[in-house]
Amino acid sequence: MTPALRKWLFETLYKNRYLYRFASTVPFAGQWHVWQRLVLSRIRGLDVLELGCGLGDLLADMLKAGYNCRAIEHSPEMLAAARATLRRRKVGQPTWVIQGVAQHLPFSDASFDTVVSTCPSEYIYDPDTIAEVERVLRPGGRLIVIEGANLLPVGFLQPLLVLIQLLVYGSAAVFGPRKKRNLDEEVARNRQADRKTATGITTEVIPDAWFGQHIPLERFGLRRRSELVRSRRWEVYITIGEK
Ligand SMILES: C[S@@+](CC[C@H](N)C(=O)[O-])C[C@H]1O[C@@H](n2cnc3c(N)ncnc32)[C@H](O)[C@@H]1O
Repeated sequence: MTPALRKWLFETLYKNRYLYRFASTVPFAGQWHVWQRLVLSRIRGLDVLELGCGLGDLLADMLKAGYNCRAIEHSPEMLAAARATLRRRKVGQPTWVIQGVAQHLPFSDASFDTVVSTCPSEYIYDPDTIAEVERVLRPGGRLIVIEGANLLPVGFLQPLLVLIQLLVYGSAAVFGPRKKRNLDEEVARNRQADRKTATGITTEVIPDAWFGQHIPLERFGLRRRSELVRSRRWEVYITIGEK
């Protein structure tokens, strides 16, 4: 699929909450929400801003967990969907989801302890976004980005889903993050990790990680921390920028 077609596909998805729900659930074997929730244990402080909150599932989880949250979302359809999620789950206020762009945040300096962004579109690579994130973060605060995740081709269904993702996202997106590695070794290691830990989920801090490099953290004085989180079925790439 060409980049232009992919861009059109995503923009179409952002205009329809039902299509977006389908596209973020079925091709990812229902794991997307599990990946989003990896943010929760990494939050610092109480005041949290979510960029591009989409359907608002993580936002509702964070509110339910007791965080004081705001969210900014560009698409009017996603904005309405996120507000509906808050109403349905009886958390927060619909007005806490604000229409706008991550590059111009309508908040005062040092308003948040944590800023989160899961599965971001190009806005996360825009220096204007990171400048704004640095401005609204308090000293000691952090930006948490779940830049992407991959299902591993284990079991019966997942190899088929990986094939679909290859067609939609291209091989660079699906296999790029592990291009220096051997996939069989990865899968074998994940199986061992599953046996070793109670939850089967392991976290590895990766110095000089091959993912997240295009998020311009250092340019705005944010310290980079890269985490690779794995389970038997998937791996998730998390980039944290600490102020
Ligand atoms: C791939 S979706 C991810 C949504 C959600 N975070 C998730 O994990 O499902 C990207 C979201 O970012 C929103 N978005 C795109 N550009 C944006 C921008 N410049 N500022 C804020 N939100 C933006 C889109 O409307 C969409 O809802």
